[in-house]
Amino acid sequence: MTDAKSRYGAADVRYVAAFQPECGPARLRLALAMADTWWNPPDPDRLTVLDIGCGRGVSVCLLAAANPGWDVIGLDLQPVHIAEARDVARQGGLDNARFIEADLAELTEANSADLLPEIDIIICHGVWTWVPDPVREGIVRMLKSRLKPGGLMLMGYNALPGYADTLHFQRMIDEAARAMHGDEASRGIAAIEAISALAEHAPLYMPEKGILERITKSARNAPPYLVHEWLTSFWRPAYHADVARALVPARLEFGGTARPGSSMPELHLTPAQRAAINAAPGGIARETLLDSFLARRFRSDIFIRGRRPGGRALLGATTLVLTSPPGKIKVQIPTQSGLAELEPAQEAALVGALAEGPKTVAELAALPACADLNHLDIALMLVESQVAEPLWRAPRHDPSANARLARVCDSLLRHFASEAAAMRSPLGVPVAALGSALPVSASELALCGALLSGLPPDPAVLSVHLARPQGDEEARARAEAGIVDVLAALLPPWRGMGVLP
Ligand SMILES: C[S@@+](CC[C@H](N)C(=O)[O-])C[C@H]1O[C@@H](n2cnc3c(N)ncnc32)[C@H](O)[C@@H]1O
Repeated sequence: MTDAKSRYGAADVRYVAAFQPECGPARLRLALAMADTWWNPPDPDRLTVLDIGCGRGVSVCLLAAANPGWDVIGLDLQPVHIAEARDVARQGGLDNARFIEADLAELTEANSADLLPEIDIIICHGVWTWVPDPVREGIVRMLKSRLKPGGLMLMGYNALPGYADTLHFQRMIDEAARAMHGDEASRGIAAIEAISALAEHAPLYMPEKGILERITKSARNAPPYLVHEWLTSFWRPAYHADVARALVPARLEFGGTARPGSSMPELHLTPAQRAAINAAPGGIARETLLDSFLARRFRSDIFIRGRRPGGRALLGATTLVLTSPPGKIKVQIPTQSGLAELEPAQEAALVGALAEGPKTVAELAALPACADLNHLDIALMLVESQVAEPLWRAPRHDPSANARLARVCDSLLRHFASEAAAMRSPLGVPVAALGSALPVSASELALCGALLSGLPPDPAVLSVHLARPQGDEEARARAEAGIVDVLAALLPPWRGMGVLP
């Protein structure tokens, strides 16, 4: 056991390399605005962002690529993560991304200040549930010392009561895997399969069949995920109310959820359920009460240092851009009580207007067909159905940025392409207009990189460049057919967002 393993059970295994789209600044601003929390940094081109437990640095590199004026920092316990992330940033030419190897448990308020500048956005995704108390306490000390007044923290964690059904299951997997032989991933799979098999004998405490199948499938697809997610005795899902209380010493308040689509009672619950929630005894934190009804196993909460109400006023000025070609769009959100949809005339008017170019929510609300929709309805339906994204800056294709962005794509692909393809984990195309990245597969990223490096959007030409093995005609023809589809789906939004001319 390494020393780091006493702080983090999976410290000997590299985590999955994946982009987290929730950390995009325009998404964070919109999510907060929906919760009526004001967050609108005065200079969008100059922010300092810190990703704690940054893993292999994919999100840090993509945020740095999309925002050349930002200072983006990743911090992680595992030297192998930091060494690799530094290589990705250096080979991608990203001089505004840097990585620090540090143990959060060892951070004091004073040494945090020596190590880090004051920060606007702190991302803490997939860390809190998996670490022991000394690490959680270190996170709070660092937040207290480094987060700017008005700054925000994105906290992604496994929540209670959603994960209550898995508490006992995780305990048994962890104990069974310890007694087995082999590497951590194969012991983990064997343990998950052995414990899942007990379900046939109707034990009293076991997740339902669908959850067991999901756990087994994702563990098989991505063994490093399995090890980090399940094989640690520190694993503790948390109540929202307890996370909020733990962050009080850092002067943080709950500002809203980064996943509004899965969090709105109006979308998911019946009027009777909502009435019951409103009539429930006082004293229970509202988010915890909602967690009894909403399917939120993983919570993505935004905490803010000094919450200012009034964010709904920002909704009208939020500019949206299409992320799919107009012909392929369905404005629908799956909810716990069926599909949430717009009237066909409303959908046609909104999509038609956005097909002409980005529009503000206020402009969309002024369309005659949308008289019955308010700003919140429009933003929620378009963004949560993944039809549109909120903009951080006006889209502007800058040909002088092509070579820089192509180099970033190339570096990400060199390090992560085969792994992302095998584990189906998302990488991202950096998009300055979003201040973030659009999640894509490794092959879509390769295509974007090829176009940025100057190849024409011609499937025949691109397939010669991208097909593997090179020189194999069958592989080239297969690649060409795939490229036709990807170009049809992605070229229009890439152009609309200014990634390509
Ligand atoms: C489950 S992974 C999540 C990675 C990434 N944030 C994501 O969501 O994809 C947890 C990360 O936290 C890091 N970590 C765990 N304990 C830590 C500590 N004490 N100090 C710094 N980083 C830590 C691990 O090395 C790992 O990269």
